[in-house]
Amino acid sequence: MRTWVGRFHRGIRQAWQDARIVAAAATLACCLFAAEQYNEPYRPQFHFSPLINWTNDPCGLVFAFGKYHLFFQYNPFANVWGHMSWGHAVSSDLVHWKQLPVAIPDDDKVAIFTGSSVVDAENTSGLCQQAGCIVSIYTGFTPPTATAPERQMQNLAYSQDGLTWTKYSGNPVLDLHRSDTRDPKVFWYAPARRWIMLIVQANEKKVRFFSSPNLREWQHLSDFGPRGATGGVWECPNLIRLPVQGKPGTNRWVLTVGLNPGGVAGGSGEQYFVGDFDGTTFRSGQESIHWVDYGRDCYCALTFNHEPKPEAPRMIGWMNNWQYAGDTPTAPWRGSMTLPRSLSLTEDGTLVQQPIEELRALRGEAFTYEGVSVSDLNRKLANWSHRGQTFEIEASLWLGEAKHLEWKLDGDEASVGFDATEGTLYVERKGSFNRAFPSKTKAPLQLGSKPLQLHIFVDRSSIEVFAQDGALALTNLVFPKSSSHGLALTSSGGPLKEIRVSMWALQSAWNGAKQ
Ligand code: FRU
Repeated sequence: MRTWVGRFHRGIRQAWQDARIVAAAATLACCLFAAEQYNEPYRPQFHFSPLINWTNDPCGLVFAFGKYHLFFQYNPFANVWGHMSWGHAVSSDLVHWKQLPVAIPDDDKVAIFTGSSVVDAENTSGLCQQAGCIVSIYTGFTPPTATAPERQMQNLAYSQDGLTWTKYSGNPVLDLHRSDTRDPKVFWYAPARRWIMLIVQANEKKVRFFSSPNLREWQHLSDFGPRGATGGVWECPNLIRLPVQGKPGTNRWVLTVGLNPGGVAGGSGEQYFVGDFDGTTFRSGQESIHWVDYGRDCYCALTFNHEPKPEAPRMIGWMNNWQYAGDTPTAPWRGSMTLPRSLSLTEDGTLVQQPIEELRALRGEAFTYEGVSVSDLNRKLANWSHRGQTFEIEASLWLGEAKHLEWKLDGDEASVGFDATEGTLYVERKGSFNRAFPSKTKAPLQLGSKPLQLHIFVDRSSIEVFAQDGALALTNLVFPKSSSHGLALTSSGGPLKEIRVSMWALQSAWNGAKQ
């Protein structure tokens, strides 16, 4: 099993080999050849990925100074985990991103692990020159030495302009003298006019809650866990109030927790608990395990603080899995984020994720079909002039007598299917760069008399499936040959009753100037 300590040592060894000068030269070389940027094999065209080098978790998602800020676990010096720092990108629509210089770099003592950012609107911290500065709360990781074990403490850094950060001289602000307390999620809890922080005590599968009047002094409130899935360490907790569909004005609290390994599809995964939070304690009566995503590549997902429309929270995850993240065959970058998703809950407590509407701006040439015949659909589809690996499908499929249907995407290298006999929606992928990579990930689904509703995004090296209006999500990386763009529907067991399909070629988000 890969632990983060192992990652740290491997990363340090490799990263130090690449001197800072080499990294600076690489950055410069990249920027001189602007035309080639963001167009290498497998490069996502409408998902965020750094221009060069390694990324893992999204961090500190916040709307501040009129923009969405995405920070991310980043190695500024190499394409492997190490030198953990907060990379930084901004966007005005969550679709077009502009990468900025590293916000919070590591130093020779402390690495900058995952965390969150808040806007300190009332300058409760006393760190703002004027109210409204950004305060970022991250885990400071100090590696083990000959005389002391490694430590994970919670630290602050702050920014007056959303461009540069200063590390707080009074760090750490929370030190439990442990090596597994990390990933602070901090938010303003208005009813009690205080800040709330969640961290994990990873090895004990616990989320710990703290409160503070000023972001600098923290008091322990309560603990949650172990509960639900406990097959790996707990990481990246996130607590969010979500609107309940069809009940205007009704909200429920949802706690999401990363699990590594032990995820539903193998390796890293993410579970959620629906419950209540009273400003001190989170309680959930949930008995079964609920999974955020049934694919293999959605981890450490985080929602934005201070959303302009708090009633429609949005979430972004790391689109990868620690089982093979270090081996994914991409260069000069490695790692990317999921699509941003709008969140809500159904009345029965199912998490609903819908790709954000802003993505529609990328739609290009369209294809539509309404009919009953799979072969007729495929004939027409073969004439569709779009032959790329970046497209979107919206399909409603009434199964009728059919027992099985499958979309072949990327030729034979990946498919999305539904097996009525088994009651599963699945994504199957091939790939040989790591033994743990090829897989068939499955989500339970009983249709009854309803159609199968699919909303699928293919972006060169990823397939994201949102089914039944977002009640199920499956996110998976894929690494097809660039020549593989066969796209077709197959079915068996009997004729389908009705087929309604819309597809769009999607433009690259990197070519537009809008950020
Ligand atoms: C999750 C994680 C976090 C940690 C970070 C280090 O992917 O292990 O718990 O803060 O990555 O990069």
